[in-house]
Amino acid sequence: MRSIIVAGNWKMNMDPQSGARLAAGILKGLEKKPAGCVVILFPPSVTIPAVVETVEGSQIGVGGQNLYFEESGAFTGEISAGMLKGAGCGYVLVGHSERRHIFGEDSELLARKLRAALDSGLAPVLCVGELLDQRESGDAEKVVRDQLGGVLEGIDDRELTRVMIAYEPVWAIGTGKTATPEDAASMHAVIREWISSSFGDDAAEEMTIMYGGSVKPHNAATLLSEQEIDGALVGGASLEAASFLDIIRSV
Ligand code: 13P
Repeated sequence: MRSIIVAGNWKMNMDPQSGARLAAGILKGLEKKPAGCVVILFPPSVTIPAVVETVEGSQIGVGGQNLYFEESGAFTGEISAGMLKGAGCGYVLVGHSERRHIFGEDSELLARKLRAALDSGLAPVLCVGELLDQRESGDAEKVVRDQLGGVLEGIDDRELTRVMIAYEPVWAIGTGKTATPEDAASMHAVIREWISSSFGDDAAEEMTIMYGGSVKPHNAATLLSEQEIDGALVGGASLEAASFLDIIRSV
């Protein structure tokens, strides 16, 4: 049985003070968390320590939104996997579409980031997803398969057990347009099929695949009721405790 993950990607929102307040609000509301649901928060780097301190001793996990693959050195502005670990993170996003499309990160770079995350003991969440024109031209599945192959090549079976995948169609992010539960589930099945052909049936069966893209309290329950959808990576609706908690309660 795969557990359900509800993760909040705060993107470039929440300074340390407001982040600590938001985390405290979520923590307070989580007394009635559904069993079998894992909650993870992805604050901006500078807000990580405040959030880690706030949720310490609870079941809430904390992760970084990004990392650089080198351990240390002259890489102004970057943070390493070891730094995230040292700050109390257990997870890190790799290849969010905003990193791919705004900051030009390609599969080669993302593969090195994923490798660095695994080597340091973090659990990476690999984000994949197609652009609107790629979906309209019928290339969505190919794009997603290429993204998986480009980043997961060179990972061994044991390492794969620590990887999670988030399918986030770019056209659904921050637009209010959600993929239909059927469309999302069908792409999740494509992803699981790819994992099966590359790593075997057991690995595919165990792989956690979250959906992201305008997940809101009103649509979370139908999305999460799909057998193929193992959780949600939430952007906008994770910035208020009430809406994030509503999504968690819909599990
Ligand atoms: P929204 O929920 O705001 O569409 O963002 C989704 C996302 O990018 C999560 O990583």
